[in-house]
Amino acid sequence: MAVSSKILVISMAILVAVCSTEALDPNVTRIQFYMHDIVSGPNPTAIQVAGRQTNYAGTDPIAAMFGSVFMMDNPLTVTPELNSTLIGRAQGIYAMSAQQNEFSLLMTLTFGMTGGQYNGSSFSVVGRNPIMNEVREMPVVGGTGIFRLVRGYCLARTFSFRNMDAVIGYNVTLIHDLYDYSR
Ligand SMILES: *[C@@H]1O[C@H](CO)[C@@H](O)[C@H](O)[C@H]1NC(C)=O
Ligand SMILES: *[C@@H]1O[C@H](CO)[C@@H](O)[C@H](O)[C@H]1NC(C)=O
Ligand SMILES: *[C@@H]1O[C@H](CO)[C@@H](O)[C@H](O)[C@H]1NC(C)=O
Ligand SMILES: *[C@@H]1O[C@H](CO)[C@@H](O)[C@H](O)[C@H]1NC(C)=O
Repeated sequence: MAVSSKILVISMAILVAVCSTEALDPNVTRIQFYMHDIVSGPNPTAIQVAGRQTNYAGTDPIAAMFGSVFMMDNPLTVTPELNSTLIGRAQGIYAMSAQQNEFSLLMTLTFGMTGGQYNGSSFSVVGRNPIMNEVREMPVVGGTGIFRLVRGYCLARTFSFRNMDAVIGYNVTLIHDLYDYSR
C-alpha cells in the first residue's frame, strides 16, 4: 500500500472515531426536525390572538405589525413534507417585538415530543427570532422527561415560505445535566 493511501486510511479511521465519540456522548442530544407554521386556509396551526390586525393601515409594515401576538400549535415532522412522520408539536406564543428596521419575534414555546425516541419529553425555548435572517439562534432554557435540566440552543432556518405559511428547519443541540437532582 502506498504511503499516501495508508495516511488516508488512518485519517479516515480517526474521522470515524471522532464522529462516533460525538454520537455516543451521553451528555449531548442533537435533534433535527421541521416545524409547520400554517396561518392561511381553513385549518391554521397559528392564529393571531391580540395586537393590531395584520392589515392595519399604518405607515410601514414593521411598525404596523409591532405588538401582534400569535398562538401556535405547530406540527413537527422529520422531513419538510407535512405528511412525513410527526414527532411532536411546538406550542406557545410568538409576538412581533421589533418596531423598526426588521421583523423580529419574541418566541416563548415548548416543543413537546409525541413520537420517536423522545416521545413524552419536552424542551422549552425563549428567545429573539429575527425571521429575515438566514439562520436564527434561540436558547433552550430547560426541559422535561429525558430533557429534564437540559440547556442548549436551536438553529432555525426557513425552508419555504408561501401564502404566509412557513416551513422552518430546526437543529437543536441539548446538553444534559447528568446529576439527578430528583433523588
Ligand atoms: C458527561 O457529564 C459528566 C458529568 O458532568 C462527566 O463526568 C462526563 O465526563 C461527561 N461525559 C462526556 C463523554 O463528556
Ligand atoms: C406527501 O405529500 C407530497 C406532496 O407534498 C406527495 O408528493 C407525496 O406523495 C405525499 N406522500 C404521502 C405518503 O402521502
Ligand atoms: C407516545 O407515548 C404515548 C404515551 O405513552 C403513547 O400512547 C403513544 O402511542 C406514543 N406514540 C408513539 C408514536 O410512539
Ligand atoms: C441542520 O443540519 C443539517 C445537517 O448538518 C444542515 O444541512 C442544515 O442546514 C442545518 N440546519 C440549520 C437550520 O442549521
